[in-house]
Amino acid sequence: MGPATLSQVLRQLPVYEDANLLVGPHNSDDAAVYKISEEVALIQTLDFFTPVVDDPYVFGQIAAANALSDVYAMGGRPLLALNIVCFPNCLPVDVLGQTLKGGAEKVKEAGAIIAGGHTVQDDEPKYGLSVVGLAHPLEVITNAGAKAGDLLILTKPLGTGIICTALKAQMASREAYSAAVNSMAALNDRASFAMKEAGATACTDITGFGLLGHAAEMARASKVSLIFYLAEIPLLPQALELAAMGLVPGGAYNNREFLNGEVFFDPEITPEYRAILFDPQTSGGLLIAVGEEKADVLLKSLAEQGIREARLIGRAVPRESTLIKVEK
Ligand code: CO
Ligand code: CO
Ligand code: CO
Repeated sequence: MGPATLSQVLRQLPVYEDANLLVGPHNSDDAAVYKISEEVALIQTLDFFTPVVDDPYVFGQIAAANALSDVYAMGGRPLLALNIVCFPNCLPVDVLGQTLKGGAEKVKEAGAIIAGGHTVQDDEPKYGLSVVGLAHPLEVITNAGAKAGDLLILTKPLGTGIICTALKAQMASREAYSAAVNSMAALNDRASFAMKEAGATACTDITGFGLLGHAAEMARASKVSLIFYLAEIPLLPQALELAAMGLVPGGAYNNREFLNGEVFFDPEITPEYRAILFDPQTSGGLLIAVGEEKADVLLKSLAEQGIREARLIGRAVPRESTLIKVEK
């Protein structure tokens, strides 16, 4: 017998049964949700990673926006956050100070509180947060509620993984860098508020599994297939050009491998476009499913909230032979 796989190891862990656990480990959703009372559900999430940009202050902002995003994706309001820090002795402590400052200011912008944290000495710096949020138990938005006929709206452009990879090779333009950084540091708070107002049926934020990875989770959980219109999908400047040059993070290939057989592409869709659809995103936008009759209102309110990159990019249909279809 070979070494155990991760899924085999996870299957050996104890299983919890609790009627108040509304969203748990079996859901592949953004956060855990626990019903405290008929009026209050607790949303809890955790995210941390190695720096995606050189500027520690900007990295702190991005890591916090990314961690908060899982609460917004569930339709919740963040309340408390705890810092998770790994930091090497060899770096000046000011780098840590700048990282924490960026995180703290972003959490403050979200109207939440950093209530503490924990630091471990580690050769490679890492930063993130565990966030607790609240929602009404009946207003929690999961990735399982999309219905055939719903339209799909994406609130941020794709390509952050590709641009961060290009940054390391010093191939990203100034324009691409600042667009990617502004997008990654932007909270999904207003997008979340707008989707709740519009009565969204399902939502997930787009992070490490890329657009198609998170879309596949939504399709599977909602028992539908999702169709995307390639020409409507918003992209960061230079993302397509950099992807064509092969500046694609390894995670994009893993994401593609993971969805083997679950995605049908129009044969005319080029490899660089496919790479972008699998590109792991840091602090990506919300993918929102909403009833056809409410999509215009939601797009209008997103635009009014200053979320100018939001686009209608697809629709949900009854389950087909693949979870995802991408049309030209
Ligand atoms: Co998420
Ligand atoms: Co997450
Ligand atoms: Co969710």
